Amino acid sequence: EKGGFPHYMLKEIYEQPWVLENTLGGRLREEEGDVDLGLALDPREVERVHFIACGTAAYAGWYGKYLMEILARIPAEWEVASEYRYRDPVVDGKTLAVAISQSGETIDTLEGIREAKAKGARTLGVINAKGSSITREVEEVLYIHAGPEIGVASTKAYTAMLAAMALLAVRFARARGTLSKEAAQALIREMRKLPRLVEEALEKRPIVAHIAEKYHQAQDFLFLGRHVQAPTAYEGALKLKEISYIHAEAYPAGEMKHGPIALIDERLPVVVLATRGPLYEKTLSNIQEVRARGGKVIAVATEGDEEIPKLAQDVIYLPEVHPLLAPIVSVVPLQLLAYEVAVLLGRDVDQPRNLAKSVTVE
Ligand code: M6R
Repeated sequence: EKGGFPHYMLKEIYEQPWVLENTLGGRLREEEGDVDLGLALDPREVERVHFIACGTAAYAGWYGKYLMEILARIPAEWEVASEYRYRDPVVDGKTLAVAISQSGETIDTLEGIREAKAKGARTLGVINAKGSSITREVEEVLYIHAGPEIGVASTKAYTAMLAAMALLAVRFARARGTLSKEAAQALIREMRKLPRLVEEALEKRPIVAHIAEKYHQAQDFLFLGRHVQAPTAYEGALKLKEISYIHAEAYPAGEMKHGPIALIDERLPVVVLATRGPLYEKTLSNIQEVRARGGKVIAVATEGDEEIPKLAQDVIYLPEVHPLLAPIVSVVPLQLLAYEVAVLLGRDVDQPRNLAKSVTVE
């Protein structure tokens, strides 16, 4: 049932090209420069968006917030559901509350969406599991179509959630007139390439395995990223801590100087998301700062980059992609890194200690 793979997690990591095909495939309308999500909701009636979720799904919400604001110019927030549900958030009839969940059963996310609904919000679920509790609570559902996810550490559901965020942002941007047809077409063409680009990212496994070999004895890891790659850094750190039990922290790279830089010494591997994008130059200076303090830099960079290898000890090259879509490709080597490290440490990858696949009690 693991299709020849030693673990469900690895099988699910390798399913991602196919999953992206499923999430995006039938929904892209390149000629019109739009996407068809089959939603009745009119994006022009929405004045703000709240993404509510837990864990990995919450990081997808963070990415969703950025895309929604960048492309559709709608004020958007993301928050972990366990905070949202209890803090009396400001919500009205012009608020769209979006619950993101693989299982559709996470109790905090379910209660968060109930809270928003009780305050008059419109509701949408971005969900994997058909007919799950959250799908019954929301007005409409955008299924991510990732297929069953067995591994406790979420992988393919995350990339599918990111793709769903991109779809949602394009739809809202087109409906609200904040994205030209041509710009939307360009983005859609790039979305079409994603399955192939993720395939190429999977081919980097030997390099990732080599890096894992080098650093699996480390006590701590730091993950850094900026802009849409900030959530990728957090997701990379979460994956590593969940299945290897190595302490891992993530920061938006620009926050380094405000504290975490004190952690850096020769024993600290620092994973930096340094793909081409809006803040590439700034990320380069962050890498220099880490190096200047003896930290070991593992960079995720865009193919052809000649600056990064001068600065980083290890480089994982990924194919060029639209900067706003880069997280969908970049998270793949981070999933593989967590996996390889956990295997080297002899951990139970599919059933990590203390964790449950779906958290149905507080
Ligand atoms: O089923 P959900 O997407 O609602 O689950 C949310 C989190 O519990 C989940 O993403 C958790 O953080 C995973 N263990 C991450 O790998």
